[in-house]
Amino acid sequence: MKIFNPFDRLLAFSPGFLGPLMRRLFSFAIATFMALGAQAAENAQVGQQLTAQCAACHGIKRLATLAHAPNLAGQPLQYLAEQLKLLRSGKRQNETMNLMAKPLTDQQIEDIASWYNTQAIQLIP
Ligand code: HEC
Repeated sequence: MKIFNPFDRLLAFSPGFLGPLMRRLFSFAIATFMALGAQAAENAQVGQQLTAQCAACHGIKRLATLAHAPNLAGQPLQYLAEQLKLLRSGKRQNETMNLMAKPLTDQQIEDIASWYNTQAIQLIP
C-alpha cells in the first residue's frame, strides 16, 4: 500500500533532483516524530511510578484530595517541570513541597511532569 506523502504534490512543482531529497526529509521528519512520541511515553511511565508518594495530596486520579493542593492532571509539561525546579531550589517556598522536590533529579522531574501532562482532563466551560 502506498503511504500518502504530501510532498508528492509539491514535487510536481519542483526540479527533479529535489524529489528524493524531499522524500528523505519527510521520512526523517516522521521517524523523528515517532521516536519523540515513544520517548515521551517512556518518560511518563517512569513518572507514574515516581508519583505514588504524591497521590496522598495530589490524588490518585491526579485531581487534588487536599483543599490546599493543586490539581496536576493535564498541566503543561514545561510549567510542571519549572515549578518542581523552583520548589526543589527553594525559590518557591512551601514547606511540604520543598521537602518532596528536594531529592528529585532533573530527569525525574521531566518524567513526573510528563506523566501528569499526559493525564487528559476535560474542561467544560
Ligand atoms: C503532603 C501533601 C503533598 C505531597 C505528598 C505532595 N505535594 Fe505537591 N503540593 C502540595 C501543596 C500543598 C502544594 C501547593 C504549594 C503552594 O501553595 O505553593 C503543592 C504543589 C505542587 C506543585 C506545583 C503545582 C502548581 O500548579 O504550581 C507540583 C508540581 C507538585 N506539588 C508536585 C508534587 C509531586 C511530584 C509530589 C510527589 C513527589 C508531590 N507534589 C507531593 C502538597 C503535596
